[in-house]
Amino acid sequence: MDKLIPVVVIKELNETVRILSALKKDGINCAEITFRTDCAAEAIALACKKFPDMNVGAGTVINAKQCKEALAAGAKFIVSPGLSAEVAKICKREDVPYYPGCVTPTEIMAALELGITTVKFFPANIYGGLKALKALSAPFPQVKFIPTGGVNRDNLEEFLAFEKVAAVGGSFFVEDALKKSNEVK
Ligand code: 3PG
Repeated sequence: MDKLIPVVVIKELNETVRILSALKKDGINCAEITFRTDCAAEAIALACKKFPDMNVGAGTVINAKQCKEALAAGAKFIVSPGLSAEVAKICKREDVPYYPGCVTPTEIMAALELGITTVKFFPANIYGGLKALKALSAPFPQVKFIPTGGVNRDNLEEFLAFEKVAAVGGSFFVEDALKKSNEVK
């Protein structure tokens, strides 16, 4: 899986190509387009069409309806801020990776029961950051984490250096990529 997962919020559909182009130019081949805006599904469909080689997924998917919309639009992975058994069921059936947000041992155990071994750790900065990940890895050596929320340029390498970190997520990837692409112009 991609190590860097930009959390992308598309407010207007016509921003999609500009944002994904900037990410691509910045060497990032992945985008988690969040279901926080009305045009999320359309943006995913557009992104998949324009950038077929990019790993475009859906984020902030909190129910079965959004999950189905995201998959119909072409999402290659699904991310939730928490754990939804309904979403997990659909993703399993469709053979699409699902990364639910889990920050407590009980939530991690619920994910394991659903056959999920890679979870989002959100909001990483509030729930104890790297220190918490290391503590949780002791009873759950089979689990990989995607810390997201408060990950930034300063702590990115530290997170990535921990072997149980499968990837990191963050909105700062988008800000950085857009800044760079504006500077180039
Ligand atoms: C998310 O949904 O994953 C977060 O909003 C991303 O958090 P960040 O803006 O601190 O990167």
